[in-house]
Amino acid sequence: MLEKIKSTATFLKTKTSVRPKTAIVLGSGLGNFASSIELSETFKYEEIPHFPTSTVEGHAGNLIFGKLHGKEIALLQGRFHFYEGYTMQEVVFPIRVLRQMGVEQLTLTNAAGGLNPAQSVGDLMLITDHINLMGDNPLLGKNIDALGPRFPDMHNTYTPDLLKLAERIETPAVLHKGVYVGVSGPTFETPAEYKFLRIIGGDAVGMSTVPEAIAARHMGMDVFGVSVITDLGVEGKIGEVSHAEVQAEAEKAGKHLTRFLQEFIRLQ
Ligand code: HPA
Repeated sequence: MLEKIKSTATFLKTKTSVRPKTAIVLGSGLGNFASSIELSETFKYEEIPHFPTSTVEGHAGNLIFGKLHGKEIALLQGRFHFYEGYTMQEVVFPIRVLRQMGVEQLTLTNAAGGLNPAQSVGDLMLITDHINLMGDNPLLGKNIDALGPRFPDMHNTYTPDLLKLAERIETPAVLHKGVYVGVSGPTFETPAEYKFLRIIGGDAVGMSTVPEAIAARHMGMDVFGVSVITDLGVEGKIGEVSHAEVQAEAEKAGKHLTRFLQEFIRLQ
């Protein structure tokens, strides 16, 4: 595994002169952010050695290198989900490659179901912490000591200084903070499950982000996360939810998130 990570990182380093310290993962319907950066190179996932390939509609699979506000940046436009059948190691492979290339800070974005009654569709939520209910963990199995410790500490998984910085950003969107619960999917939750996730301390639920955050923390990266609330799992407000609807709502709120992330990069 380590050899694959290293050889992919070496491949990319020979193909781009960009050496980003920061990377952003763009979730469902949030790929638009890519149009706001000065592009250097774009790699389709299928062109990159050892990368899995994306199978979900609405997830362009591109690794993009460029500049924003004079800062070098990498974007993962589309991610690999556990529910697609990828192993956890495959899900986090791109994150490990970016770390190997020298990336120190990872921003994770996603579409999520709101669990907190204060939330509305289209709101943004800064992730303060997570609960891993995916039934798996990317660090299971023999530890790769060169990447990080056997038993990583998970206090402050979402870097407090980055949260503080993000709270200073002015946005027309309603901004919440809260706990993201990661589930495997692909089913959306039953009303009883939404209720359970709220009771155990969740503010939003989604099918991604947790594996990447775990792998990033394992490697000592700073992590920042933002959810776009695309539907509500709040008692009395639960409606039918579909992937198309989640994507459409994420795209709508995507404009706010794009501006928000631009500011987030600019302020650093
Ligand atoms: N549940 C799980 N994942 C999701 C949801 C949801 O309600 N909305 C977007 N991703």
